[in-house]
Amino acid sequence: MSSGDKLRIGVLGSGKGSNLDAIFRAIHDRPIFAEVKVVLSDVRNAGILDIGRSHHVHSKYVYPGESRARLDEASERNLVNALQQEHVDLVVLAGFMRIVGPVLLAAYPRRIINIHPSLLPKYPGLRAWEQAWQAGEAVSGCTVHYVDSGIDTGEIIAQAEVDVLSGDTAETLHARIQEAEHVLYPDVIEYLARERPFAG
Ligand code: GRF
Repeated sequence: MSSGDKLRIGVLGSGKGSNLDAIFRAIHDRPIFAEVKVVLSDVRNAGILDIGRSHHVHSKYVYPGESRARLDEASERNLVNALQQEHVDLVVLAGFMRIVGPVLLAAYPRRIINIHPSLLPKYPGLRAWEQAWQAGEAVSGCTVHYVDSGIDTGEIIAQAEVDVLSGDTAETLHARIQEAEHVLYPDVIEYLARERPFAG
C-alpha cells in the first residue's frame, strides 16, 4: 500500500502528552499503518505540543475562547480548519480537557475518539481514578470511546481493566491506569487503521 493509504490522525490535547508519545512509539515499532499529521492544544505551553514537535509533526496552540470548559464556535472552526488542512481521517483526543461542541462533531461524525481513566459508564468526568478509588472499587481501568455531545458518554470501543491494590493511593492507581492507557490507545488505533469502520 502507498503511504497515501495511511490513516491520517489529528491529536487534540491539553496536558503532558504521554498518550501521544505512546501512539508515536507504537506507530513506529509495530508498525501501525497510520500517521499523526497535526497536534493541536488549547494550552499554550502544553507538553503535548513539545512531543509533537519532537516528532517533526506540525503542532500548534489554538485559542479556545473565554469559557473554561468549552470551546467557542470560532475556536472550534479554527480546530476544524487545522484538521481539514491535513486531511485528517480520525481525531484522537489525548487528555483534551474541553467539551467537544457541535462544529467539531458535525465535521467528524463517529471519527473522534477519547480515552478516559475509568471503566465507563462508571465515573465519567474529572479525576475518574480518584472517584473509583474513593468508592472502594476492586477493579478500575480505562476506556476508549467515540465522542458524542455528552461528557464521556459515547459508544465504547474497548476497555482495559486494572486491579486496585490494597496499598494503592489514588495516585498509584492513576499511574497504573495510565500504563494501561498507553497500551489500549495504540491497540484501538491499530484496529481502526486496519478495519476503517468509518470509511465510505
Ligand atoms: C489521560 O490519563 C487520559 O485518561 C485523560 O487525560 C490524561 C492525559 O494524559 N483523558 P497525557 O497528556 O496523555 O499524559
